[in-house]
Amino acid sequence: MSHSSVFYRKPKRSKPVISHGEGIYLYDDQRKQYIDGSGGAIVVNVGHGIREIADAIGDQAGQVAYAHASMFTSQPLEKLSALLAERLPMPDARLYFQTSGAEAVETAIKFARQVQIARGESGRYKIIGRWGSYHGATLGALAVMGKPSMRAPYAPMFTDMPHIPAPYCYRCPFKAEYPACDLRCADALEDEILRQGADTVAAFIAEPIAGATLGAVVPPDGYLARIREICDRHGVLLIVDEVMTGMGRVGRWFAVEQWPVTPDVVTMGKGLSGGYFPLSAAAMRGEWVDLVWDQLGDFNHGGTFSHQPVGAAAGVATIEYIEKHNLLDAVRSTGKLLGDRLLAAFGDHDHVGDIRGQGLMWAVELVRDRQTKEPFLPGDKLAEKVFDAAFAGGLIVYAMAGCVDGRSGDHVMIAPPLIVQAEQIGVIVSRLARSIDEAVAEVESA
Ligand SMILES: Cc1ncc(COP(=O)(O)O)c(C=O)c1O
Repeated sequence: MSHSSVFYRKPKRSKPVISHGEGIYLYDDQRKQYIDGSGGAIVVNVGHGIREIADAIGDQAGQVAYAHASMFTSQPLEKLSALLAERLPMPDARLYFQTSGAEAVETAIKFARQVQIARGESGRYKIIGRWGSYHGATLGALAVMGKPSMRAPYAPMFTDMPHIPAPYCYRCPFKAEYPACDLRCADALEDEILRQGADTVAAFIAEPIAGATLGAVVPPDGYLARIREICDRHGVLLIVDEVMTGMGRVGRWFAVEQWPVTPDVVTMGKGLSGGYFPLSAAAMRGEWVDLVWDQLGDFNHGGTFSHQPVGAAAGVATIEYIEKHNLLDAVRSTGKLLGDRLLAAFGDHDHVGDIRGQGLMWAVELVRDRQTKEPFLPGDKLAEKVFDAAFAGGLIVYAMAGCVDGRSGDHVMIAPPLIVQAEQIGVIVSRLARSIDEAVAEVESA
């Protein structure tokens, strides 16, 4: 392309011009077709080109596109909040809408602080996070997230928050094995709370299934329940970040529903509008919202585009589409098929160490040596090479480096739109296999 004034995110990667999308496919302006095997950054839950959602957005924008959230409510805002409150695993949920996952996380951690102040515990301000987590690119989200490479340059600019290891059984941080480990990784939260002083800790934040940084790591049974008990014992709020896992991605509205846990705050984004509009939300337990309102008046927060009616209309149309097409049930069967196909293709692969995931959110972790689990070198840039090979072959995947220690380790996530069909899953897995083999061959021949 000739000179462009766009400040690109990846200037060295040549980028085709997107033309349109339909179902699980994207098309560039040269008519090349791509299977959107990861919905970009695991965003496109319902699929591309869905007319009902586009129309709902257009109709609402034509009716009224903007009215400030402190001055008006709107019909789609009330409706979306009610639809989500019915589906959330928490009593009397109240929804605060924003436009990105990071803002939902900022909203959640500020809310936890406000709850502690309202409770008369103003010394509690620390939010404990986990290594290997992803919570967004803003400074507050960076402080709690656990991806070292993204935090490093900005570390002097935020107040760092404590972190505990993730429940990453394939590379257990305690070199233990489940169930003999007795959930040492969950107990690490209690150790950290005591080390910090419980009277300084406001909340703990975690993804129910670790997403971008570790790649679809499902915690062992009992993990989240133990975390909840520890939080309760120490007056610490539990924030469950469902920005990636929510809205049907794992065959339920929210991943946390599968465990006997009631969160205090749930964040969501990405699939909330399936990519049709920038939309996110933090859902809070009603009793905490009432406490903040009673004790402090308003929730001290902002957002010019918070509670925006066009975004809300997109969210309502997305939920209605998921219901109308029974996509939660569909994900349970196509998700199982995807897992089985990945296992069949890579179960004996020399360079696939682990295959993990749930619903339509899966990852394969690539290793140099299957026996020792030794990763490829960071300089091999294997994840990037897999992405490039897949993209050239018409498959979009979400490939990431750093799952082992923040620098080394490569994983590739597969998370197609929830409308994916069985025969399309076969094509995705065979294109992925070809891309991994090409990328490994390129590294080995270098
Ligand atoms: C679990 C989780 N939280 C928060 C975010 C941040 O969302 P956004 O990029 O929309 O700010 C992401 C994005 O990948 C995510 O996966």
